[in-house]
Amino acid sequence: MAMVGAKLGAAAFLAITTLGGAAVWAASGEHIHIDKQKWTFSGFTGKFDEAQLQRGFKVFTEACARCHSMKRVAFRNLVQAGGPQFPEAGVKSLAAKYEVDAEPNDQGKVVKRPAGLVDTIPPPYKNEQEARAALNGALPPDLSLIARARGIEYNAPFYMVPVNMARDIATAYQEAGSDYLYALLTGYVDAPAGTKVADGMNYNKAFPSHMTAMPNPFAGGDGLVKYDDGTPETVDNYARDVTAFLSWTADPRLEERKWIGLMVMGYLLITAILMFFAYKRTWKAVH
Ligand code: HEC
Repeated sequence: MAMVGAKLGAAAFLAITTLGGAAVWAASGEHIHIDKQKWTFSGFTGKFDEAQLQRGFKVFTEACARCHSMKRVAFRNLVQAGGPQFPEAGVKSLAAKYEVDAEPNDQGKVVKRPAGLVDTIPPPYKNEQEARAALNGALPPDLSLIARARGIEYNAPFYMVPVNMARDIATAYQEAGSDYLYALLTGYVDAPAGTKVADGMNYNKAFPSHMTAMPNPFAGGDGLVKYDDGTPETVDNYARDVTAFLSWTADPRLEERKWIGLMVMGYLLITAILMFFAYKRTWKAVH
């Protein structure tokens, strides 16, 4: 019985992951269309845009970090290649603004010390209960891996599933989570007439049930977060940039991964050509 369950579970897992990330199911059964966006990191040769990741981190710290944690990202990651690559000195002084528990001293007391490069970004709340108490009972999820934990659902009959899958593989489409995040962050609209929005809830056209406990983080509108590289300070850019940043935290080795993929394809191609000529040569006498 357990075996069958495990097998079924594995099959469902495979079906869902091959569709490009966990699907988001609408509670009402209604299909929510999520537009695909253009990302610098999409496609076979996609790369993160360093400046965009830097802006995205700024948006995260100013508009999200008071509710959401980022437990899997250490300050040193912000300095590393393939990421925002902030200058080390800047990240050190940023880290020093946070306090973390030091190792117990010789009296066994745990005192506080300023955070350093090795520490992960400290969460805004000490624990789940504290977060829920502050946010009307709702729990803001950790955002480190959220871009991988969300996806989009295709509204297609079953026989189109292999077609969609083949297309996603051929175009190397892996940005379903990012597309959903952008749609969510730009999805706060007035509820349609006749829809009641409960106290403490907000209407969002991309969120599966449309009712989310998260208020619009960009309610302040354009200009909310200051950019110092001349990029227009618009809600659209905030949503795009923070999504790019969250896509990096969820897949920090994307560039390396894609590069290895290309190398392997190149290697296989060369091998195939060599094999073809070897075949010709071997059978020359017979033909
Ligand atoms: C005032 C607190 C608050 C702020 C600020 C905030 N969030 Fe949230 N967020 C929440 C809560 C609460 C939830 C859980 C919502 C729910 O389950 O209805 C949530 C859920 C989410 C989710 C999960 C949605 C899903 O599909 O389940 C994402 C993604 C998210 N937030 C991203 C962000 C980003 C990015 C920012 C900054 C631009 C941000 N949030 C700012 C409180 C906040």
